[in-house]
Amino acid sequence: MNDKIEVLRQEFVAAVKEVKTAADLMSLENRFLGRKRGRLTELMKELKGVPKQQVAQFGQTANKLKLEIVEKISLLKNELANPQGGGFDLDYTLPGKAFPIGHLHLASQAIREIADIFETIGFQRARYPEVEWDYYAFEALNMPADHPARDEWETFFIDRQPINKKMGQRVLTPHTSSGQVREMEKGKLPIRMMNISKTYRRQIDASHVPMFHQFEGLVIDKDINITHLKGTVEYFVKKFFGPERTIRLRPHHFKFTEPSFEVDISCGVCDGQGCKLCKQGWLELAGAGMVHPNVLKAGGIDPKKYSGFAFGWGVERCYMMKSGLAIDDIRLLYKNDLRVINQF
Ligand code: DAH
Repeated sequence: MNDKIEVLRQEFVAAVKEVKTAADLMSLENRFLGRKRGRLTELMKELKGVPKQQVAQFGQTANKLKLEIVEKISLLKNELANPQGGGFDLDYTLPGKAFPIGHLHLASQAIREIADIFETIGFQRARYPEVEWDYYAFEALNMPADHPARDEWETFFIDRQPINKKMGQRVLTPHTSSGQVREMEKGKLPIRMMNISKTYRRQIDASHVPMFHQFEGLVIDKDINITHLKGTVEYFVKKFFGPERTIRLRPHHFKFTEPSFEVDISCGVCDGQGCKLCKQGWLELAGAGMVHPNVLKAGGIDPKKYSGFAFGWGVERCYMMKSGLAIDDIRLLYKNDLRVINQF
């Protein structure tokens, strides 16, 4: 039996030499591995007549040959399919291909850094739907239907008409503030919430992209006042932009905070002296304020007992201000052009 197996191996080796085309290969495969009358199949059948003690040993040897044949045929197939591939004549001395090492997109880098800074002082990250109800994006934030303040948010509407009496239409959330009342509705106080997510607005030009990121802080507790807001923002600014930077709060108007502020940061280029970039020494950074009593009420919180502050800023904008990155077109960040992305 062992002889027969050896003869078959020789026969296969000889037959391989004759293979020139894909058709040859097919008939070779058929001849040796064919299910009905393949040479190997026939050989396996003969195993039946072998004395019991020897079956295992012959079986093993025959199986080994079968594996060799299968492997060789698949190599030949490969070689015929890629004639330039060098077949199985590998040059082991060729240096390997270096794998390119990737890195996080700069928006992700900024998000991690921002999250770390706020987590250190007890903020907890929370997430809310990106496809949001009009109610949470506007109505509950003290912006009733038809209020002109809504226009600022250039919203993408999913529904043409309200589909729910209380909730209204669905929208792509235009700011992270939509998480505020959702957080309050969880019914747990005090709140120290940090929401960093995607936001969407119908704007695209050199300084706007329709999808960008914001981070939003919300703190609600007893006796929270403006000094807490100012201290928190200042802490963040010094950690993120550097200890030499300072902030100022400038009165502003948002429907969901009272009083409302815009936060300015001292210019990093001229150190607050006034230059071409900042003009007066300050750069506009973000919106913030003390949570409006109507917003607290919408979240089921009694404004006589609790107060809070909130702020919401653009992630990309913050990052660009920190790095001094002078991109004259913000759309470049999301074009997936590796020549741009690889630089950060
Ligand atoms: N949501 C505002 C925006 O998208 C920013 C903002 C302003 C958030 C004041 C706040 C806030 O939490 O208190 O422009």
